[in-house]
Amino acid sequence: MSGDAVIPHLVLSTASHLLLAPVAHAANDVATSSVFSPVSAPADSVVRVATLVLIVTAGIFAVVASLLVYSVVRFRRRADDDGSEPPQVYGSDRIELAWTVIPIITVFVLCLVTARTVYDVQAAPRPADALEVTVVGHQWWWEIRYPGFATANEMHVPVSEGPAARPTFLALESADVAHSFWVPRLAGKTDLIPNRHNRMWIAPREPGLYLGQCAEFCGTQHAHMLLRVVVEPAAEYARWVAAQQAPAADDPDASAGRRVFETTACINCHTVRGTVATGRFGPDLTHLMSRATLAAGAAEMSRISLRAWIDDPDHVKPGALMPAMQLDDAATDQLVGYLMTLR
Ligand code: CUA
Repeated sequence: MSGDAVIPHLVLSTASHLLLAPVAHAANDVATSSVFSPVSAPADSVVRVATLVLIVTAGIFAVVASLLVYSVVRFRRRADDDGSEPPQVYGSDRIELAWTVIPIITVFVLCLVTARTVYDVQAAPRPADALEVTVVGHQWWWEIRYPGFATANEMHVPVSEGPAARPTFLALESADVAHSFWVPRLAGKTDLIPNRHNRMWIAPREPGLYLGQCAEFCGTQHAHMLLRVVVEPAAEYARWVAAQQAPAADDPDASAGRRVFETTACINCHTVRGTVATGRFGPDLTHLMSRATLAAGAAEMSRISLRAWIDDPDHVKPGALMPAMQLDDAATDQLVGYLMTLR
């Protein structure tokens, strides 16, 4: 390759990386994903245990470090040392008993507190009107099933506060390998294991966007398995549900693109309700444009990133299981145009 060809390629690939910048968990996002700012009951319990463990370990560190510093200073070599060995001491029942019993008690207390917290979270009674959502981990995205519709990677739940508190109970499953559901401000990690049905619940007190991600290594794109939880007031949540339940838009201006979609392999893996597409391997696209991100947070949702994704998924998210469809430019534009109408 000549130097002339390299430079435009570099410029182009840098530009496309900027355009497709991952939805990074940057510094300003820490506030939306810190374990230490819980907004939901199970996350409160996690913080209580974590704080206790930190206090206990800080105490142990203080004692051990002080003894170490004391010994270093007190028994350091001095100018008048005659070089002889100090008196040797062998065995001390009292010290040996202490360094055996104290750690055992410490570990025992931490075990009991942890077991009790896990039990309390798991045994929480489920109110009759609790929202039930099934979350299925896939390589590398989240399927989120509500009664009557499904979405992906962005979960909406009502705020759970006051007399009308409505917690969300999650059924956690996996379609392939082990994943782990973790939205630090809402609940502790819970694994999604093939052929197992795990459960967790959240009761967020404050509306907002809470970031999470897969917390169990599940393959090459484990790091791009991001999850967004939007907590909304009940009325807003009801509006979102109504919009999601509606069938897909059928914009006559996008009929050419719809034809492309319905006649390529897209329909084997994706569902768009009201069309021939009923695939379940990939995300439901019925209301694709209601989501802010693409490919589980690998890119922001936009015409440019959607086009780049369809053109070559592997470039946006190396290892992604979606194949490149090898469509020509005109067909790709029509297809993107159609997907952009799926609001
Ligand atoms: Cu899914 Cu890591």
